[in-house]
Formats: sequence, structure tokens, C-alpha cells
Amino acid sequence: MDRIIIRGGRRLEGRLPISGAKNAALTLMPCALLTDEPLVLRNLPRLADIDGFGHLLNQLGASTKIEGTRPEDFGRVMTIRAGRLTSTEAPYDIVRKMRASILVLGPTLAREGRARVSLPGGCAIGNRPIDLHLRALEAIGAELETEGGYVAARAPGGRLAGGRYRFPIVSVGATENVVMAAATARGTSVIENAAREPEIVDLCRCLIAMGARIEGVGTERLEIEGVDRLHGATYAVMPDRIEAGSYACAVAMTGGDLTLVGADADAMRATLGALAQAGVSVDEERDGVRIRSDGRLRPLELSTAPYPGFATDMQAQFMAMLCMAAGASVLEETIFENRYMHVPELARMGADIQVRGRTAVVRGVDRLLGAPVMATDLRASMSLILAGLVAEGETQVSRVYHLDRGYERLEEKLQAVGADIERVGDG
Ligand code: UD1
Repeated sequence: MDRIIIRGGRRLEGRLPISGAKNAALTLMPCALLTDEPLVLRNLPRLADIDGFGHLLNQLGASTKIEGTRPEDFGRVMTIRAGRLTSTEAPYDIVRKMRASILVLGPTLAREGRARVSLPGGCAIGNRPIDLHLRALEAIGAELETEGGYVAARAPGGRLAGGRYRFPIVSVGATENVVMAAATARGTSVIENAAREPEIVDLCRCLIAMGARIEGVGTERLEIEGVDRLHGATYAVMPDRIEAGSYACAVAMTGGDLTLVGADADAMRATLGALAQAGVSVDEERDGVRIRSDGRLRPLELSTAPYPGFATDMQAQFMAMLCMAAGASVLEETIFENRYMHVPELARMGADIQVRGRTAVVRGVDRLLGAPVMATDLRASMSLILAGLVAEGETQVSRVYHLDRGYERLEEKLQAVGADIERVGDG
């Protein structure tokens, strides 16, 4: 298995291109299931999760054609055509590896009047993982049954009726599923306490480009008037605000001057605000966001929250960054229960972090020291890369496949702006 080796202490300087957003791409791709015409998605990142999702669409009978496959191409174009679905099932083997697979449920059900999706990892209905997806689909007319680890959904009469649903807590994925399903329902649907993440706005815009009627885009109340059919469209995936935020943390820690080319400042207000508060200089420029830092950081108090709050997907990276701040920071994780898995690994590099329940106190240290480390998820892995970029000596990050799920050509992008980083195989 590959590892990434970093020798820390280099300033980062130059221009770093931001890729299309993974999480937006993963909800735009299943929109193709809603029409028999081609959906052309531009600016797709080159990531393992995108390939995996394409594979799932193929299993359902959609064809996927990718252009821009030369190694030097950023921003691939994928044409997805679901002329006819040959299956309505998302099997366990795929869902198990990629939670976002659940996002085929809504559109498949809307298109075919039925869908069968494996429950991700041993959960039951009523349990946390996908209960909100199911409740919301039920509210717009789906009939559900669970059997053998699968949930089978049906639309009586072959078409969802539409309806009202108020989410008890904000869920990005469940909002996406119900919006896709409601787009071609017989009647109108009203979704309240909907997630407002920029990726949801991207989804709504793509559906509108396909002929959907949606009001309240970007607000917590979405009104979707079902249409008889959707047509094909060409749509460009938004820039990845989490990737951009991660590299902003990198330069904040190492010191330097980095322009995040193509980054959308509006989608990352909470991140940019927190960086500015820490003493980092943030400038919105014509072609992106420029981040400058002398490496001296002030401590912060941050709590994760649904958009427009501070993103849980930025928590691990800020924790690594705040290890280098002058003083004690307090981070609170309110979205996921077990999202401090990076703490023991950062501690192995010399970080001083105490976790009590959902709160972590990060005391700034004079230096971090390189070490062999590994992480259990995507953003946690990125926090170790960030720590490695500033640490003295050599850091080896293993389980690189986590990073490959969400950071397009990480080491190439960082090398180009001055980092001493490389990928090595075990072979
Ligand atoms: C998406 C993002 C992920 C991000 C998260 C929160 C994608 C592919 N992933 O994940 O990167 O960290 O939003 O911004 O876009 N919940 C339930 N029942 C459900 C669904 C969710 O209880 O049916 C809970 C979750 O356990 C969590 C909270 O709701 O505590 C928010 O999760 P949700 O917004 O649904 O996250 P995802 O869509 O899975």
C-alpha cells in the first residue's frame, strides 16, 4: 500500500488549483438516473469515490463516458446516460464501501417506481444512519419495507405523490435524496429544515437546468413542484470548499502566500472567517482566494454546525492547525459523535490535545515532530498531512487510500507550491 512521505518545514508559495467538489459530484451524478437523456457533468474531480459512484450507475444500467483522462487534465467531463435502467438495486458490496451510494435511492425510486438499497453497515430503520432519508421519502409517498439488510421502496401507482416533510435535524444526504425524488413527483413537495449546504444549492441548480421546478434554493424551506419529465443538461460541478479550506490551513501553519485558484469564497465564509480570526490574511481575488500567513496563529473557539456554520469536514484540519497557535483553543464537534480519531495520531507527533466528550482543548506547542502515522478517515488523514507539513523531520502517512477518496493529486499540488512531499509504494 502507498504511503506519503513529508519532510516538514517548507513555506508554501504560489498558485494551487482547486478541483470540483467531491460531495457535490456525488449528488449530481445520481441526477442522471432521473432522465433518459444524457447528463454531462464538467469539472468532475479525479477521485476514487467518483469512479466508484460511476461503477454503481453502470450497475443500474446507465452508461458513463469520461473525457479528460490524460494525467495532466484537471476537471474531467463525464457524460452519463440512463436510457433505460436495467437494475433498481444498490448492492451491499458497493454501499458498504461508499455511504454516498444511498443517494441512488431517491432518483431510482422516482424513475422506476421502485428501488432496493442495502442498508449501510448493520443499521436498522429507526436507527441513526439513514432513517431520515427513509422518513422523508415516506412523507412524499414512498412505501418502505426492510428485509435481509436491504430497504425496498415502492411508489404506489409507479409515481411518488409529493408531500410535506420537516427534518427533525439537518441532514445533507437526506435532503439530497428527497429533493431528487420529489423533482418528478405527481404533486408539490415542501421540505422544511432542509440542509442549506452549497452542495445542495449545486444540486438544485442542476435539477433546474434539467427542467425541475424548485423554489427556496439556498434556504431551509424548499418547495418542489413535480414535473412530468426531466431532460438532459450540461452542468459544471462547484469548486471543492473543503479541499480549498484544507490547503488554506496548510499555508496558515507553514507560513507563505498561496492563491487557491478557482476557490469560491462565498461557499467558505465560516472557514475564511475563522482563519482571519486566527490572524491569517485572506483576500478575495478575481480568480480565487489568496491566503497569506507568517505562521503565527492565535487560538480559536469553534463549534461545528450545519451550513452556514463551521463545517464538520474542516474540524480535523483546524485541529492540526491550532496545534501551532499561541495558546489554548477549544473545538466542539456537534455533528458526528466519533470524529476525533485523529487526536491520538496528532499526539504521537507532539500535539497537546485533551478530549472530553464532544469537546477538544488544543494547547499550542512550539513544534511538532515527524512520525509514522495513519488515519481512519478522509479528513483525519488530511489533518496528519497538515501536521507533517509543519513538523520537524519526516512524517510517513499510511492508508493513503483515504486521501485518494477526496483529494485530487494531493502530493502533486503540494509539491508544485514548495512542499517536500512524495508518494511511495511498498513494493
Ligand atoms: C454529508 C457529507 C459529509 C459531511 C456531512 C455533514 C457527502 C457525501 N458527505 O454527509 O462529508 O461531513 O454531510 O456536513 O456529502 N443522520 C441521521 N439519520 C439520517 C442521516 C443523518 O441521524 O438518516 C445524522 C448523522 O448521523 C449526523 C447528522 O445527521 O449526525 C448529519 O449527517 P448528514 O448531514 O446526513 O451527513 P451526510 O449526508 O452523510
